[in-house]
Amino acid sequence: MSQSYNRGLVEDFGRWTEFSAGMWAWIFHKFTGWVLIGYLFTHIAVLSTATVGPETYTATIQGLESLFIVRVLEVGLLAVAVFHILNGTRLLLIDLGVGLDSQDTSFYASLILTGIIAVASVPTFLAGVF
Ligand code: HEM
Repeated sequence: MSQSYNRGLVEDFGRWTEFSAGMWAWIFHKFTGWVLIGYLFTHIAVLSTATVGPETYTATIQGLESLFIVRVLEVGLLAVAVFHILNGTRLLLIDLGVGLDSQDTSFYASLILTGIIAVASVPTFLAGVF
């Protein structure tokens, strides 16, 4: 005989305010995964149009790197990639049964480590832009 469970209303969007670490880990992982895919295609599109010759390529790279917003986006890309790698590794370990009792702690550790690495990268990414 089948059993039914009360899972609450799926349509009740107000539930997102009920903070849970696992929910945010899920959202951040999806967000960062799809941002990386978006970056990958943009990267290939921009660079492939710049490969008509060495002068065009150099001018394209120098033009992009002279823009402050591009440098800021590079820090953001690093943060997105680092979080996805750390959280992805965490998920793979959890799938293997490692760290099941400390999932929230390892999620917070991924966030904090991502923040530290992103902040530490700022001097390198902003070097020479001003
Ligand atoms: C060391 C590097 C990486 C690790 C350890 C990793 C790990 C993972 C894991 C475990 C998942 C599945 C999460 C789940 O159970 O739902 C996942 C999903 C995904 N990853 Fe990665 N990943 C890495 C690199 C990348 C890169 C480089 C990209 C893009 C270019 C990427 C794009 C995605 C996308 C789009 C998803 C699916 C998100 C969704 O559920 O909609 N990942 N990753």
